[in-house]
This record gives sequence, structure tokens and C-alpha cells, in this order.
Amino acid sequence: MGARGIIQLKGIAKSYGAVTALRDASLTLEGGEFHALLGMNGSGKSTVIKVLSGVIRPDAGEIRCDGQAVAFASPADARRRGIVVAYQDLSLIPTLSVLENVVLAIQGSRPGSRLDLARERTLALCRELGLTLDLEASVGALPTPARYQLEIVKALAQEPDLLVLDESTAALDRNQVEAVFALLRRLNAGGLGVLFVSHRMDEVMRLATRVTVIRDGTTVASVALAETTRERLVATLVGEDAQPRPASPVTASGPGPTDADLAVEVRELSRPPRLAPATVRVRQGEIVGLGGLQGQGQREFLRAVAWLDPPATGQVRVGPRGIPIAGERRARAHVWYVSGDRGREGVFPGRAVWENVYAQEIGIGGPTRRIAERDLRRRVIELLRRVRVVAQPTQPIETLSGGTQQKALLGRLLTRTPELVLLDDPTLGVDVHSRREIHDILRELASAGSGVLLFSTDDDELLSLCHRILVFFEGSIIHELQGEQLTREHLVRATLSPQEAS
Ligand SMILES: Nc1ncnc2c1ncn2[C@@H]1O[C@H](COP(=O)(O)OP(=O)(O)OP(=O)(O)O)[C@@H](O)[C@H]1O
Ligand SMILES: [Mg+2]
Repeated sequence: MGARGIIQLKGIAKSYGAVTALRDASLTLEGGEFHALLGMNGSGKSTVIKVLSGVIRPDAGEIRCDGQAVAFASPADARRRGIVVAYQDLSLIPTLSVLENVVLAIQGSRPGSRLDLARERTLALCRELGLTLDLEASVGALPTPARYQLEIVKALAQEPDLLVLDESTAALDRNQVEAVFALLRRLNAGGLGVLFVSHRMDEVMRLATRVTVIRDGTTVASVALAETTRERLVATLVGEDAQPRPASPVTASGPGPTDADLAVEVRELSRPPRLAPATVRVRQGEIVGLGGLQGQGQREFLRAVAWLDPPATGQVRVGPRGIPIAGERRARAHVWYVSGDRGREGVFPGRAVWENVYAQEIGIGGPTRRIAERDLRRRVIELLRRVRVVAQPTQPIETLSGGTQQKALLGRLLTRTPELVLLDDPTLGVDVHSRREIHDILRELASAGSGVLLFSTDDDELLSLCHRILVFFEGSIIHELQGEQLTREHLVRATLSPQEAS
């Protein structure tokens, strides 16, 4: 009997040394459901999925398929039952081509399957996701969103009965997410069961028919979506003791910048072919969003401002005195750049949490400096408490869950008040509660005088935080939204209608 029947996890426990990842987790999946698994960062979602897919064996508890106890000794065992996972950390082999990755997966589940069939299936799935890929290209060269899309293609190419998506949509923008959902809905109508993890509550509310909430390794609720509300779900996943609180309102933006309160002036900054000359002024205390679909030049813009990828033309001046930034070293002194793409930039694996937080201070990935190590470690503990990371400062960063790593990196924002903060999708994979905490930190930074430039694939994040939103399209800023235009409707329209650009 495959995954079209009922799969149950009951009383699952799993520890890693002193860390208890799962205490008492349970999950019941009916065939053909659209089931969301919710929980804060580090609550145990990925661990549950790894148990379900045979990647790890639980210390206690049982797995049942249609009432019958089963043991998954390996992912192959789970796959035989029709369970396939698109992993949060991706399971692609970067040195192989797109097609080779898919073929390997298909042959793993159906030995002897034909290459032309694999190619056909890959092309068809990519087409449905709106993904144009050279099948011979090596996966290592793909941008992050394409890798997540390919991870989904690879999973679906194995024709599962139950598809598990562990934050597969986190790195995708609105259009890419829509394409994934359209495909899943179609397959779900044909009987495919889906279990998915997402920290974006609007995705959960739109798609799921059933929701299971896990907190501190224990399943605390499993309800039909129709029987609950968004607020109740958030309260459940956070826990009774922590009061859900409304997001602080954005303070109104005053008159245009004068030099006296200038945080940054960017003039005619370009980096062809991805970034056309862009001119932007941000005041101290102002949070300016960069909107538009993913890959329209927002990242290039931020990286050029930070001089991580030096611009071809243009100038950047920071602070009221208009200090010119030219060169990465000068930029580092005035500008903070934090990326949510921690796989590619940001995290230094093998290094402790505290070393990662203070990477810039202690000179990892840059010029070495001498600092009082013990002092930094002490400060890091305070920092972690603030962003609610339960970890030892000396723990290697890769032992934290994905979102927890990201929170620790964002703790860097508490270390000082730079003139300018540049954020590249900073809360990617961060849970809904911590996200609010981080938004508060950003507002505090702004009140303390920093200017903030924020790119986010999450519309809610842009709309709740920003005083203004600059919409990018094909490397140019084509719209500026402010005041009453800061609504989802305006943002979507501005993104989708470049031809109406003023
Ligand atoms: N290989 C490991 N070694 C040590 N600890 C681990 C390991 N894998 C997970 N953990 C710990 O187990 C707990 C649960 O982690 P898990 O990855 O399941 O969380 P999650 O709910 O998926 O979080 P996120 O939303 O951040 O992805 C965390 O405290 C994490 O640090
Ligand atoms: Mg996870």
C-alpha cells in the first residue's frame, strides 16, 4: 500500500546529543490531502520530515501506513511507499547537470527508466513552473530560486503519491510561487498528497486543507483549516505564554530628504547588463523597500551600493556629510549588508555561532583584526536572547536549524548603528514570530538614525515595514509607491504592469 492511504507518525522522539529535536511528535496524513506543517524555527519540522522520509531513524515512536507498522531504514524505503521530499537544504548535486540530477533521482526510484523519458518529464515540469533551464547546465551555476524550483521538479519527476515540500517556496517570488501552486493544485486534484512547510501564513491560509502545529518538538494541534483562523494558528505555534502582538505602525514619511538628514545618496549607479543607472536618496530613519519580481536588479543594486560587486558607473555617498563610498573597505565601515541567501553568502560553516555573528569584527572573510574574544562572546549571548535563538555561542553554526541560522546572522544588526543597512531578503525562512521581532529591530535601527534599503520577496514584509517602495523591472526602477499607494493591490499592479510606468 503506498502513500495514497493513511500515513501516521506517533510519539516520535529524536535527540542529537544534548539537543532534543523531537519530544513527542505526531502527524496523520490522509491520502490526497493538502497538509501544512507549522512551527517556529527549530521546532522540529525538518526533523519530522526526515523521519517520514527515512533519512533519520527516530529514537522512539512509530510510523504506520494504513494501520500497519513500518520502519523506514532509508529514503529508498520511504520512496517505495510513494513519499518524496523536496528538501530545505536541497538534495541536488552541484557538479552534475540539471538533467543528470533528475535522471539519478528517477533511476533511484525506478531503475532502468529511459533517458529520453526523463528529459521529457523534466522539460514538461520546468515548463509548468515557468522555469527555462539549459538541461545540460551544471546545477552549481544556477541562481538560488532556480535550484529550489529544480528540487521540486526532481521530486515530482519521481511521480510520488505524497510530495513533501520543506520551505521550497521561501526563496521564490510571488509569480514563481503561483506557478508552483498551480502545478500542485492540478496534481492534488489527481490524487497527489502534499505536505508543506512555509513560514508565509498567507500561503498556508490559501492552500492547506489541514494544518498540524509543532512546538518545541511536540505536536500541539492538528486541525482542519476551515476550523481555525490565522491569528489562532500563530498563537498556537508561538505558545500561550508569548502574547501575539500587533505589528507597530510605520511612522509617516516626512518631506523629501535634505542633506542634513541624508543616510545615503546613490547617483546613477549602474552595473550593466543587470542594473541600469539608478538614483535613490534615503533619509536617516527611513526604510525604503525594493519591490518587483525576483531578479529584476534589486540584488545587483544592493550589492553595488555595498561595493560587493563594484558598480560600473555612479556614486554612493553616505551620511549628512556625504562621505563618498568607493571600494569595499570604505563601504564596510559605513554600510551593513545582510543577505537571506545564507547558503551562498553570510554563513561560515565550521565556525561557531559567535564567530559568525561577529565575522566582520574578527575578520573572517576579510582583513584580520585583533579583538577581545571573551567580550564578544558575552555580547553575543545577549544578542541571541533578543532574537530568541536557543543556542550556545560556541556551537558550530551549521547545527542550528535553517531559520535559526538566519536569525543569528540578523543578530549582527544589533551590534551597531551603521549609516546604512542593506537587506537582501533578510527573513527568508524565518518564522512568523521572529520575523516580527526582526521587524522591530529594523524599526529601532531606523529610529536610531540608520537608513534602510530592503529587498524582500515577501510582499507583506515590504508593505508592513517600508515608508516607500521602489519597484524594479529589468534592471530599472519603474515605479515609486508611497502613502496611500502602499497596498498589496498597488504593489501587485506596479510589479505586473511595467508598461504603465511613469
Ligand atoms: N544534525 C543536527 N545536529 C544537532 N542538532 C540538530 C541537528 N538537526 C537539527 N537539530 C536541532 O533540532 C531542532 C529542530 O531542528 P529542525 O531543523 O527540525 O527545525 P525546523 O522546525 O525545521 O526549523 P526551521 O524553521 O528553522 O527550518 C533544532 O534545535 C536544531 O538545532
Ligand atoms: Mg526546517
